Amino acid sequence: MSEKQPKAEHRSRPTGAAFRRFMTQGWAARADARPDLTEAARYAVARRDAVSAAFPGERLVVPAGGFKVRSNDTDYVFRPHSAFAHLTGLGADREPDAVLVLEPLAEGGHEPVLYFRPPADRDSDESFADSRVGEFWVGDRPTLRTAATELGVTTRHLDELSDALAKDVGSVGVRVVRDADQEVTSLVEQARAQAAETVSAEEQTEQDLALARFLSTLRLVKDEWEVARMEEAVEATAEAFDAVVAGLPEAIRRGRGERWVEGLFGLHARHRGNGVGYDSICAAGDHATTLHWIRNTGEVRDGDLVLVDAGVETDALYTADVTRTLPANGTFTEAQRRVYDAVLAAQEAGLAAARPGNRFSDIHAAAIAVVAEALHDWGLLPEGVDVEETLHEERGQFHRRWMVHGTSHHLGIDVHDCAQALRADYLDAELREGMVLTVEPGLYFKSDDELVPEELRGIGVRIEDDVVITADGCRNLSAMLPRTADDVERWVRAGGQR
Ligand code: GLY
Ligand code: MN
Ligand code: MN
Repeated sequence: MSEKQPKAEHRSRPTGAAFRRFMTQGWAARADARPDLTEAARYAVARRDAVSAAFPGERLVVPAGGFKVRSNDTDYVFRPHSAFAHLTGLGADREPDAVLVLEPLAEGGHEPVLYFRPPADRDSDESFADSRVGEFWVGDRPTLRTAATELGVTTRHLDELSDALAKDVGSVGVRVVRDADQEVTSLVEQARAQAAETVSAEEQTEQDLALARFLSTLRLVKDEWEVARMEEAVEATAEAFDAVVAGLPEAIRRGRGERWVEGLFGLHARHRGNGVGYDSICAAGDHATTLHWIRNTGEVRDGDLVLVDAGVETDALYTADVTRTLPANGTFTEAQRRVYDAVLAAQEAGLAAARPGNRFSDIHAAAIAVVAEALHDWGLLPEGVDVEETLHEERGQFHRRWMVHGTSHHLGIDVHDCAQALRADYLDAELREGMVLTVEPGLYFKSDDELVPEELRGIGVRIEDDVVITADGCRNLSAMLPRTADDVERWVRAGGQR
């Protein structure tokens, strides 16, 4: 459920009976629409079927989560838990405090039941007196009937959840996605405690985690609808990048340029999609050597490289994750271009390795070998260490001083998607058609790094693209964005025109 907010006693006004009567009458009947089943919900059916088949006879509880307090009585914008979004097809803003329960059926399979808080009847004071759910405060909300037809699931009032979770516990196993909603997890634990359980609390927690792992692993291969959402996310991201590139002269001129860049990307992300899929990294000069520079408080100066790592999240919550490193004035210096070209070569090697038959980890292996070679060619590896030696798992790894991160991660509803999958299903797994992942090598030479020549200090470059694995290779979803040094220079000089 939503995190607690303090009660605003200090500025609440008394409401008399006459006022409440006046407020609760004179409204037209609520529309109780019967919308079509959404496309997103149609695709969610097969996903729920997979979950149902994996956990026969068990009650499976997947909460959306609630509002999270930002400060005092203001919340962050609501975003549902990713497993909940995946299994319901619900996207942005929906539905705080909702809980999807897959209820096992005697004849096999599960009935999907969505518990949530529909708007209260008009004779209640909820609409004007409850600032978190009341329609006066937050806008209209779906009825049970509307949501049922839109999502193709049974819908029930949230007030019925507690009893539903406790029903037959003992004879029916219950698993809950623990990290989605602390209160729902507690409800499940209370229900289990009341049943004379033979399974220990630790084992039950382990069973819960196995459910979360399954749901995370289920997202490794995207269906066609999800791939279309990723295309949409990347397309919008490319447009936002164009706006950033167009705004570089202004970012230099105004001062506080990293903020300007962040704002430009955010504007387009919000306009084209739901917003940014993660905090944008807008890092100029030496800030580009900080991998997750999300403070974005610095200047953009003539002559800087500006590393922009950002992605638009669609209304359905799928996010892109793209990085371009841009010469602020349209021309790479010789040293900047040298680093850029090495990173590009590493990315090309990574992209070539992104194909079925290879393992996920082969992408990194291919890219990092090119990075190691460049560092060796430039004489940066320790005395006597050759490429083979530095690539050795235990004895080497010296090159990682300048690229400490991995080259790839799965991408989808979460920017680091499928994070609970086992190593065997992720890093060590074979790539399969429909997987969506990033290829993002980089090189980062900090301004105070005394082991690199002066001209490389303060240069950070990352190039990141999003690919979908195909039957015989991969398709670069973000290929519409310039990537070679020449093409990037042309793009910047043309003010963001591709
Ligand atoms: N934007 C974070 C990452 O590239 O993983
Ligand atoms: Mn990434
Ligand atoms: Mn990124």
